Amino acid sequence: MFPVTSGVFPCVAVPGFYAGAMSSAYRELLDATIHHLEILRDQGHRFISVSSEALAALESSAPRAASSRRVPAVSQPTPASGLADKPHPVGVAPPAPRPQEPTGTADDVLVGSPLSAAEKEAAMAALRAQVLPCVKCVHLARSRRNVVFGAGTVHSPLLFVGEAPGADEDVQGEPFVGKAGQLLTKIIQTMGLDRDRVYIANILKCRPDTPGQTAGNRKPTPVEMTTCLPYLLGQIRIIQPKVIVALGATAVEGLFGKCDGITRLRGTWLNFRGVPVMPTYHPAYLLRNQALLEKRRVWEDMLQVMERLGMPISERQRGFFLKATGS
Ligand code: URA
Repeated sequence: MFPVTSGVFPCVAVPGFYAGAMSSAYRELLDATIHHLEILRDQGHRFISVSSEALAALESSAPRAASSRRVPAVSQPTPASGLADKPHPVGVAPPAPRPQEPTGTADDVLVGSPLSAAEKEAAMAALRAQVLPCVKCVHLARSRRNVVFGAGTVHSPLLFVGEAPGADEDVQGEPFVGKAGQLLTKIIQTMGLDRDRVYIANILKCRPDTPGQTAGNRKPTPVEMTTCLPYLLGQIRIIQPKVIVALGATAVEGLFGKCDGITRLRGTWLNFRGVPVMPTYHPAYLLRNQALLEKRRVWEDMLQVMERLGMPISERQRGFFLKATGS
């Protein structure tokens, strides 16, 4: 019998697990095991039975990837080979990383060796099946109507990450379908894409409960975000995006912890465990603040994303909101 004590399988030391040198399939399996153990622990289980054969197999079968241990987190960006299933012509050459962009080490690189399309689809279906019955946050499991897992295609090089589902998303079980979601959809379309050619997910998969309130949302707590983060990490490992767009301060905080405000961060590339992240304003902010200057700022962030992905950008696209802001 082994105690179910923490988020990391406590009894098996897996060499190299955090060194990023393990095959992604094995890592997925290990993550699924850890999540399963966490659920058992949260349900009150204190011990599990593990055969000595299973332990020996776990200890001996951590396959190592062929690559060396030191992987630059954000190297020279390569144009994404097509967004989802409709390939995009590669247009503008992507710029070199900006000097302030931090580079990660092998210890924190999240995305492993490439997964095939079939592997991605199977892994995402397995992760979804694992997340839908989640009861880690008992209060949220009680109040929610649906777990809002994520939507779009796992084959996209572009991942949008929001904060948490609101009332509309809770009812429909899909992220960004309310007013803010409709604006996000417009932004995506203005980039020349469709919602179903990117992936959209949230830091939190359940709507934050609002006991005693009849309307409005609340920000997820740090504990809720930390509890749910492994699911987003799983989605990132599977999608292997070339760029993540973090929508709003809470999305940035969910990924990086407390940091500078979104006003300072937006428009500057960050690095989340090897994946370039573009922080920008949340569409809900643009709904509250209709100033064209703020729209232009978000649009400039999206232009940077498009450049990094090697997407074609027309003169018309480059000019959106420019005249209105007098630039
Ligand atoms: N706001 C978010 O951050 N996510 C959603 O899914 C909807 C609104």
